[in-house]
Amino acid sequence: MRDMRGIALITLLLGAGVAHADPCKLTIESNDQMQFSVHELAVPPECSQVELTLRNVGKLPAKVMGHDWVLARDSDMPAIVNAGLAAGPSHGYVPQNDSRVLAATHLVGGGESATVEFSTAALVSGARYSFFCTSPGHSAIMRGRFLFGESGRLAQAGKPETHPQ
Ligand code: CO
Repeated sequence: MRDMRGIALITLLLGAGVAHADPCKLTIESNDQMQFSVHELAVPPECSQVELTLRNVGKLPAKVMGHDWVLARDSDMPAIVNAGLAAGPSHGYVPQNDSRVLAATHLVGGGESATVEFSTAALVSGARYSFFCTSPGHSAIMRGRFLFGESGRLAQAGKPETHPQ
């Protein structure tokens, strides 16, 4: 029995280690207060693929308080938000076939989650990227910085203050 407990413990530790060790897999939460759980996400340069999961930990349905996670260059954010409004709810407020949208989940309501996988091939290390929610009016609050490349490595090491503003 003693050996089995040891194995179970090791399995548990390995499982926990794997869950937190992959810097290419990100999770972010959103809620009924129109907030993201973090305002900065960082991915180091060795990630050729990124897997991002958005969880809506709220209770309100998607048509009332739906959130998505969209990635773009800082400078493209306002235009994407406007184009998303024009695209409307049937497209989850995300413009279709818009190359400025680098990654996007669909809208999720309370208790739901969505995962998007995307390649970093189109991302430039050190360029300024933002993530945001395209639900009407949300991006004023629901936005954050997305760091890729060397800046992402520094952020992961806990040195965000070294990033150029
Ligand atoms: Co939102």
